[in-house]
Amino acid sequence: MFELKSATYASKREHYEDLARQARGLLAGERDLVANAANFSALVFHSLPELNWAGFYLYDGNELVVGPFQGKPACIRIALGRGVCGTAAQTRQTQLVRDVNAFDGHIACDAASQSEIVVPLVKADGGLLGVWDVDSPVTARFDEDDRAGMEALCAVFMAALAS
Ligand code: SME
Repeated sequence: MFELKSATYASKREHYEDLARQARGLLAGERDLVANAANFSALVFHSLPELNWAGFYLYDGNELVVGPFQGKPACIRIALGRGVCGTAAQTRQTQLVRDVNAFDGHIACDAASQSEIVVPLVKADGGLLGVWDVDSPVTARFDEDDRAGMEALCAVFMAALAS
């Protein structure tokens, strides 16, 4: 049985390092995409403060389709290049949006969301798996430490699938 840790951390970086260790343990020995995506979403959503959505949009070869997540029901399909998720998928670069109201084309699935970070998930062969999307009801919730931390967590997620 996996138990969520409740600990206090000296820094955000330390928290992300511990979260990466927990993710590695949670996903070890399992390669099923839906199982790992569901557990990864639950781990992150229940471990980090001030989040209202954390989950996956998976690329079906044409567009992004919502996958396992935690939070309120969300938009189902997002075209590449549209919104924060579609931009991350198309550019293959993490999108760190401090104020979603200032992002041209932001797709508001939940009106409570004020800031957002989206990491593209690219397979070893260069193909796009999808994106990892995390929303917050707090403006400027995410900073460069979150970018580095979320990218490291996504690397753990991708490594487990390929193991
Ligand atoms: N805000 C995202 C859409 C997905 S929801 O945040 C869950 C976007 O602009 O792509």
